[in-house]
Amino acid sequence: MSDNKRPESMKRINSPELAKAFIAEQVEALKKQIGDKKVLLALSGGVDSSVVAALLIKAIGKNLVCVHVNHGLLRKGEPEQVIKVFRDELGATLIYVDAVDRFLDKLAGVSDPETKRKVIGKEFIDVFAEEAKKLEGIRFLAQGTIYPDILESDGIKAHHNVGGLPEDLNFELVEPVKFLYKDEVRVVGKQLGLPDNMVYRQPFPGPGLGVRCLGAITRDRLEALREADAILREEFANAGLAGKVWQYFTIIPDYKSVGVKDGLRSFEWPVIIRAVNTRDAMTATIEPIPYELLGRIVDRIVHEVKGVNRVLYDLTPKPTGTIEWE
Ligand code: XMP
Repeated sequence: MSDNKRPESMKRINSPELAKAFIAEQVEALKKQIGDKKVLLALSGGVDSSVVAALLIKAIGKNLVCVHVNHGLLRKGEPEQVIKVFRDELGATLIYVDAVDRFLDKLAGVSDPETKRKVIGKEFIDVFAEEAKKLEGIRFLAQGTIYPDILESDGIKAHHNVGGLPEDLNFELVEPVKFLYKDEVRVVGKQLGLPDNMVYRQPFPGPGLGVRCLGAITRDRLEALREADAILREEFANAGLAGKVWQYFTIIPDYKSVGVKDGLRSFEWPVIIRAVNTRDAMTATIEPIPYELLGRIVDRIVHEVKGVNRVLYDLTPKPTGTIEWE
């Protein structure tokens, strides 16, 4: 248990200098722990796994093997950014697995939210384990566990992100940021030179857009959701709101309503916008988005996103709503 307690002497990492010292210390510790062995990491592109990857690249270079699984439920541009940053810029060994069809085939017709989560979680473990089995000489598994994950073992991540690797893949764990709080992980990520939109990224569920594409996921609705989300993020960034609002995203229901486009009746999906502020995700308040910005977002979504004819803005705080719709 003491292995999982943050040392009392550890300073809060809140400056570039402290981040630099932490990185130097961790790189030495990782070199010592790992030696010339190989480490495997599931790299989602989220801030925690990205910081772990960058630390390990500094410590052991090519002996880190990153696996990026594209399950088709990522936001627009995410897989491309992971490849660009880690393979092209940092020179990492990166295995990119295009598992889009595999996930979407398994999810076809599955509408129950918990079952959807289970299908996604199980498929992820299966794909990752298959890749791991193809590799030789892996001794360690790196994970982006952070301190709140340890403290709140009944917390949100622990509650949602279920599953583990099969027993025959029995690696030793490497968890270099397990004593850091999220804000410290970001300071370290910034110091490691990771791009701002990776370091200051809003929280994104493990099952990704899968929890925002309501009911049974279809490819056309998923694509509409991804495009609408990209427009929302772009407009928030242009308006200077990206770092100010805790979480903002779109949701697509699985029903249509009538509308009119180019003088003809259209029977298409609505898109719902959610923008919330919170400290701990247990309660959340609604971010008042300027009307002009809302108008621009609505205009762009209904004109640029195929299959969408309405945009709604969810003004419900948590409670009684949750942040996600599922
Ligand atoms: P709810 O919808 O319960 O969400 O109000 C609270 C926060 O948790 C995020 N969330 C997840 N985070 N894995 C995660 O790490 C998940 O599977 C997951 N599902 C929801 C949600 O986005 C919100 O920030």
